[in-house]
Amino acid sequence: MRLGTKLTIYLSLIIIAVVTGYGYLDILSRRDILVRKMKAEVRGTGRTLTLSLEKISPPDEKDYVQGLVDAVSEYERIQGVVVYYPGQNLMFRSQSLKEGFEPYIDLIERSMSQQAPLEEFGARKRVPVFSYAFPLKDKSGKATGGVCIVQHTSYMEREIEKAKWSIFVTMFLLIAGTVILILLGTRKWISRPISKLISGIGDMAKGNLDTRIDSKGKDELSELARSFNQMAADLQRAQGSIMKEAEARLELERGLRQSEKLAIIGQLASGLAHEIGTPLNILLGRTELMKKKLEDKEAIGKNLDIIANQVEKITRIIEQLLGFVRKKQPELMTVDIREILDTALDLLDHRIEKQQLMVVKDFQESLPPVTGDPDSLQQVFLNLIVNAVQATAGGGALRLCAAPVCLSKAEAPVCRKRYIEVRVEDSGVGMDEEVIRNIFNPFFTTKEAGTGLGLMVTQGIVQDHEGWIEVESEVGRGSIFKVYLPVMTEETGEG
Ligand SMILES: Nc1ncnc2c1ncn2[C@@H]1O[C@H](COP(=O)(O)OP(=O)(O)O)[C@@H](O)[C@H]1O
Ligand SMILES: [Mg+2]
Repeated sequence: MRLGTKLTIYLSLIIIAVVTGYGYLDILSRRDILVRKMKAEVRGTGRTLTLSLEKISPPDEKDYVQGLVDAVSEYERIQGVVVYYPGQNLMFRSQSLKEGFEPYIDLIERSMSQQAPLEEFGARKRVPVFSYAFPLKDKSGKATGGVCIVQHTSYMEREIEKAKWSIFVTMFLLIAGTVILILLGTRKWISRPISKLISGIGDMAKGNLDTRIDSKGKDELSELARSFNQMAADLQRAQGSIMKEAEARLELERGLRQSEKLAIIGQLASGLAHEIGTPLNILLGRTELMKKKLEDKEAIGKNLDIIANQVEKITRIIEQLLGFVRKKQPELMTVDIREILDTALDLLDHRIEKQQLMVVKDFQESLPPVTGDPDSLQQVFLNLIVNAVQATAGGGALRLCAAPVCLSKAEAPVCRKRYIEVRVEDSGVGMDEEVIRNIFNPFFTTKEAGTGLGLMVTQGIVQDHEGWIEVESEVGRGSIFKVYLPVMTEETGEG
């Protein structure tokens, strides 16, 4: 049950109890007042009768007494009057008391013996009545007779009944009014602010720290709302500073990576001098040779071929180097690895056909996407497939697999994440341990026309994508290159 409903019911019950109790007491006090008024009235009549009757001698003035009795009986609320003188055996009574007057004689006798007025509530012919008896005294103070006045009390009941109704209506209006007021009050001051608080907390739980609750009032709930707003603002500030810190850390990391790259460039530069130096020397030697043999067309043709080859090698080295050094800002987008692998295979179609390689593709159906730069990722798999094709120059098989796996990086073993594992497997020449140790180093190559830059660039790109590369190989049996790239997660939209 809602708090507002509970409060309304609780308060309403209290109000109903209080108002009902008050109504009951009111009815009691009204009845009391009516009874007292009636008694005063009857006593007044009694006093008048006493004054008239104590002055006369009843046996002599029977008619007068009877007249008095009749006159008094005519009052609307009086049922009858009995005047009784036991000593003289005289009794006067109203017409209405022709029968059933004995109880009143008895009451008169008792009041005479007690020398005091007596009152009694009772019923006469099932009608509620009030009887009031008092003694009549002679000059010496002795009770010679007595009077009993019998009065209806039903009019009193009627009045009380009427009062009951008006009290009931008043009570009903009062209760209905207060219940409505309480209902509106609890809704305005309790239910609604609490609902707002709850929805605010829900919003915040969903990560919306901009949430603020209306908190204008001066009551405790408004204070709570203000505290909540304060907390939300603090959290927002804290989150802001955490984000700033994270950004700063990322910036630092980027800087470190850049400086790492610069260190590599330093290494590269010395390697480059050597790498390009050789073909340049060859170029120089060949051009000098040609100068001497200007007439020998065949020799010129051969030398020009050699020159072209060497220039091509220099160009290749420089292109790859530039690709690594002057790397453009990666364009991050959702990438389907299957498409990338298919395109890479398409690009190398002619070489695969030429070598009559058997190609097996094993891509899992529901491959989740990764976030990355498609061009760079394309370069990664092109490099790996080109190496595989070069390693199977004497024919063989090439196998490409892609599947999602759940792993943790070697440097963060606790943090398991989802990755896509791409395997580029070949049945080619394979590598010994010495070669495997060096393959990612710049300019390390075992090929005549190799640059030794492909795997270094490949590794750089994969690391930029928060991934890594693993290698397994055996001389004469082939190699497996495994690339791990983090899967794009739904919450962050990032890999
Ligand atoms: N699939 C493979 N099979 C055997 N050896 C490989 C394979 N991939 C790479 N290598 C070795 O790693 C070396 C470095 O490769 P890479 O960096 O691509 O330079 P390059 O291909 O220009 O030689 C290669 O020269 C080769 O010895
Ligand atoms: Mg290569």
